[in-house]
Amino acid sequence: MCQILRVAFLALLALPNALAKPHPKEYVANYDDLPWDELTPNPLPSGYKSLTYNIFQVDQYDGFISPSSGTQYAMAFGGSGNISVSDPSTSFTLKSFNYACSSGVPQPECAISMWGFKGKKLAVKQVIVFPRLDPGHYIEEFVMNGTVLGNKWKGLTSVGFSIARKDNGGDMYGGLMIDDLRYTISK
Ligand SMILES: *[C@@H]1O[C@H](CO)[C@@H](O)[C@H](O)[C@H]1NC(C)=O
Ligand SMILES: *[C@@H]1O[C@H](CO)[C@@H](O)[C@H](O)[C@H]1NC(C)=O
Repeated sequence: MCQILRVAFLALLALPNALAKPHPKEYVANYDDLPWDELTPNPLPSGYKSLTYNIFQVDQYDGFISPSSGTQYAMAFGGSGNISVSDPSTSFTLKSFNYACSSGVPQPECAISMWGFKGKKLAVKQVIVFPRLDPGHYIEEFVMNGTVLGNKWKGLTSVGFSIARKDNGGDMYGGLMIDDLRYTISK
């Protein structure tokens, strides 16, 4: 009898855990595991680490700005692109990533606008800055910058990026590099 009560009690204790949502799954996209061919476009495979990339391509270190990890990164040539959850029944929470505007040297200070969507609804917007690059430096001094997103970047279905000159909002004629994108995916 005592044993039966005990088992029932333990089962009761376990219940809330069993009913709780599964923990969000953590990902780091570093793009180093993706194929890259110098002679062809290199779109990211759909569903790479549960996300779908628009415009962004896999790109490889070419002697300019080093990726923050490995030899590859994702590059939006032209500076605009977006990333969405591959499974529309999921959402993602963007935690952090590294970035650079890549238009050569010199290049003006670059403003990267970011929009986070929940479905069609704009949920959060932010502008981050990549500093101007001046001539007269060693190439090694040009590195990616990093950003950690606040808790508004939660439960999103899509994130859009677009770069512009910070001083006048004009075109940069360059690309947006991103690397080490950290996020979680929730059902
Ligand atoms: C993402 O980019 C693609 C290609 O430019 C565009 O068709 C689509 O509407 C964009 N999606 C969002 C949510 O911005
Ligand atoms: C940001 O990038 C610039 C240009 O490459 C670099 O000089 C600077 O050290 C970087 N800052 C950080 C905090 O990474």
